[in-house]
Amino acid sequence: MTAQDTAIRSDFPLLAANPALAYLDSAATAQKPACVLDAVRGFYERDNANPLRGLYDLSVRATDAYENARETVRSFINAESAEEIVFTRNATESLNLVAGSFGSLLTPGDEIVVTILEHHSNLLPWQQAARRAGACLRFVECTPEGEITEAAFRAALCDRTRIVAMTHISNVLGVKNDIRRFAAIAHEYGAVFVCDGAQSVPHIPVDVRVLDVDFLAFSGHKMCGPMGIGVLYGKKALLRKMPPFLFGGEMIEYVTRKDATWAELPHKFEAGTVNAAGAVGLAAAIGYYRRIGFDTIVERERRLSEAAFALLRDIPRLRLLGPADAASHHGIFTFTVDGVHPHDIAAILDSDGVCVRAGHHCAQPLMEHLGVTSTARASLAFYNTEDELIRLAESLRHVRERMGYRQ
Ligand code: ALA
Repeated sequence: MTAQDTAIRSDFPLLAANPALAYLDSAATAQKPACVLDAVRGFYERDNANPLRGLYDLSVRATDAYENARETVRSFINAESAEEIVFTRNATESLNLVAGSFGSLLTPGDEIVVTILEHHSNLLPWQQAARRAGACLRFVECTPEGEITEAAFRAALCDRTRIVAMTHISNVLGVKNDIRRFAAIAHEYGAVFVCDGAQSVPHIPVDVRVLDVDFLAFSGHKMCGPMGIGVLYGKKALLRKMPPFLFGGEMIEYVTRKDATWAELPHKFEAGTVNAAGAVGLAAAIGYYRRIGFDTIVERERRLSEAAFALLRDIPRLRLLGPADAASHHGIFTFTVDGVHPHDIAAILDSDGVCVRAGHHCAQPLMEHLGVTSTARASLAFYNTEDELIRLAESLRHVRERMGYRQ
């Protein structure tokens, strides 16, 4: 371990307490640094009251903590205004919000375009929105390495395209889509561009104004924040046009027996008691990212990706899916081992203290496209070390033998 490895890992109580564990499932959820845990605890110990309601000092403090967290998120993704930041439970809820609300403005014959790379959370909400509106859902296929080409993308668009929904980084193959280019093309057709940033925002700097996306969804828990807090960024002009998604307390301006008018942005989309402690924890995670610095995060993950790619490529009878170069994996390595079910791979790795995910990774249409039903996946974060990757490779080398194969 390098001095930097040791310093970073000492920030994470779970990693520090389990030095024998190789946690390689950060695409599913990231580990949490002590500063995030302290921030959540501190909110409940010092500032806990229902935000946005009370007129007493404690409730004002809770409101301030919540709204300061919103401002922290705004500046992290460079949104123009805090009104464009809606807190949700996770990226899935953010995408359901756009599909349910913006999707309700669709009319029969309209078209929605998704890619075959999408996680179910950026597919099922659009299937349902299309069904409700009588709209058509079109897919952009990828190459065998997972690339979405401009030609394939353009071929799926037409003058009826209203929405394009695309992942920034695939949770299965790690490929990164050139969101700025695809968003510009979608705009040529007058379509709105929705970006699923669940796997990108935790790993690379994301600037919504540079990318010029109309919506961006991401989760706090994948970027060292708490579970149960997510973000939907939306351009103000679009959010203003959209009806509420959930109805109830705090999202209204005025209610009569028969009807209601809605609160200003972003509260129109935040019905009920909000997850203020989660928002405060997410702001602490952003503060932690800033202290480590994206230059360091990106460089560490690049080096780890190179090492993982070289190690995995060397293992006999292991098939690595997706891009043919290390950098394009962005820390996500999905693979099969001949004759071994991915669940067995994960169980054998677990017995050696290595945590990976196995299954369809909530991307069944992509699995079908790739000709597999399930795979194993190792996914990295900046707190991982080369030593953990060596343990992964060592364990993988013996998987077939432990399943009873001679070689
Ligand atoms: N979306 C998460 C993953 O890919 C849960 O594992």
